[in-house]
Amino acid sequence: MQRIFSGIQPSGVPQLGNYLGAIRNWVSLQADHECVFCLVDMHAITTWQAPEELRRHTLTQAAILLASGIDASRHILFNQSAVSAHARLAWIFNCVTRLGWLNRMTQFKDKAGKDRENHSSGLYVYPNLMAADILAYKATRVPVGEDQKQHLELANDIAQKFNHDYGVEFFPQVEALIPTAAARVMSLRDGTKKMSKSDPSAQSRIELTDDADAIALKIRRAKTDTGVLPADVEELADRPEARNLVAIYAALADMNVQQVLDQHQGQGFGPFKAALTDVVVQAIAPIGAETTRLLGDEAHLLNILRQGAQRAQAIAEPIVSEAEKLVGF
Ligand code: ADP
Ligand code: NA
Repeated sequence: MQRIFSGIQPSGVPQLGNYLGAIRNWVSLQADHECVFCLVDMHAITTWQAPEELRRHTLTQAAILLASGIDASRHILFNQSAVSAHARLAWIFNCVTRLGWLNRMTQFKDKAGKDRENHSSGLYVYPNLMAADILAYKATRVPVGEDQKQHLELANDIAQKFNHDYGVEFFPQVEALIPTAAARVMSLRDGTKKMSKSDPSAQSRIELTDDADAIALKIRRAKTDTGVLPADVEELADRPEARNLVAIYAALADMNVQQVLDQHQGQGFGPFKAALTDVVVQAIAPIGAETTRLLGDEAHLLNILRQGAQRAQAIAEPIVSEAEKLVGF
């Protein structure tokens, strides 16, 4: 059975893009993989997090994953900082990765923008920590949204260089599992930016704990053009906002984009947004309700994370100790 590593940052409340690009696939991968699900709090602090918020978001995130169908008794659910192997291997990788490789990472450029000098060095070396997260478990498959593809290619470069530098085939190559539907959900306010839990505008995303009213309001206010829904997919090419809403509908209704257009062509965004709201509410509202229930018992959630960390540690510790030995520690 192949081992999967999946990470999500507890830097806010998970949003619809996390669900469609990641969580939903994690749930189905559980059937035929050994899964390690990680709340990557060390990645979260690459941008400032208020400590109490970070703790709260970590618990909320755990509850949302469980509510979405992650099975913590058969698989591993834990937070990254609880297993020191991640930080130790990341340091080794900081010394393996070339600066030129990091300079090519588009996510850093997107996040830092023009104000490069004022971002943490953690944000810059984030892909090295991500490689460590995966390779500390010698995981061979990583389900990610398209936004993480470049980081996975870097993880493979790091594994290869480590193996080359220390003269042994130690780390495996990893394969990205990228969902075909809605691999990239875009912001509701700007069709050229990905939906993100760290976007300053809460109107830009649907959070998995939003209730029906909040969902309806955000979709009603979502940016669109003044046209109607076209008959063919190709006609959506230069209409990013319209394309995004149709893609969300398709992904949640288990249809393809053309099938959605077949049903809704000629419709304006008023009626289409109402139909989309129904589809989103049906998919998201049960997760929100179960999350609230789970958050009522914090001790239980903390216990799940503690046990998950012990099981994660049991896998990662021997692998990272061996890597340290190879390095000469
Ligand atoms: P965020 O940008 O919301 O903080 P994370 O960095 O925590 O997201 O990513 C968690 C997972 O969710 C990753 O696998 C990532 O590829 C996926 N993901 C994040 N945003 C989107 C999106 N807008 N569309 C599709 N997948 C996404
Ligand atoms: Na993020």
